[in-house]
Amino acid sequence: MTAESEETVARRKDIKVRQFHHHAFRTNDMEATRKFYEDVLGMPMIGVFVETTDPVTEKPSNYIHAFFEMADGSALAFFQFQEGLYKETAIKGNQDPFDHHIALEVESKDAVMTYRDKLVAAGYDHMLIDHGYCYSIYMHDPNGMQVELTTKVPKTVEIMEKHAKTAHADLEKWLAGVTEANNEFRRLSDQQPAN
Ligand SMILES: [Fe+2]
Repeated sequence: MTAESEETVARRKDIKVRQFHHHAFRTNDMEATRKFYEDVLGMPMIGVFVETTDPVTEKPSNYIHAFFEMADGSALAFFQFQEGLYKETAIKGNQDPFDHHIALEVESKDAVMTYRDKLVAAGYDHMLIDHGYCYSIYMHDPNGMQVELTTKVPKTVEIMEKHAKTAHADLEKWLAGVTEANNEFRRLSDQQPAN
């Protein structure tokens, strides 16, 4: 394969949006989703985060957020809600982020905040969410598609590696009705030591 030209390499060096991080979609059947992506396509389920509060509305809501990994570390993500299809959104006129969004990676929380400032200056609405295992800002593009810019936080690798070991047990437990949250660092990325 021909190597990329210096011009291409130089152009990419200046792009602050680094890579695809994940694409998220809603499911009503996580086990069927797991079977398809993991067993058929060979994308391991690397994390099942059980949450008990909706980060948009701040109301009690029990759901799981599962990630299926590709070779470059990016993922497809799916949400399943205990109460079925959940439609309420705090962002008036905008799509519920649990319906569908794409996530792109930036290099730091400072980069997330720089984008926050740019969005505010340009008159776009936004929403910040500290997931604990990553830190994100959400917005809508002019087509109504929800876009998330996200960055790793100090404990991202540690948290993801821990959850990769328990993902299958976590899914099994949640499907059996154990709805306790397992995302101990949610909203706590600021308190994570840099190393
Ligand atoms: Fe996401």
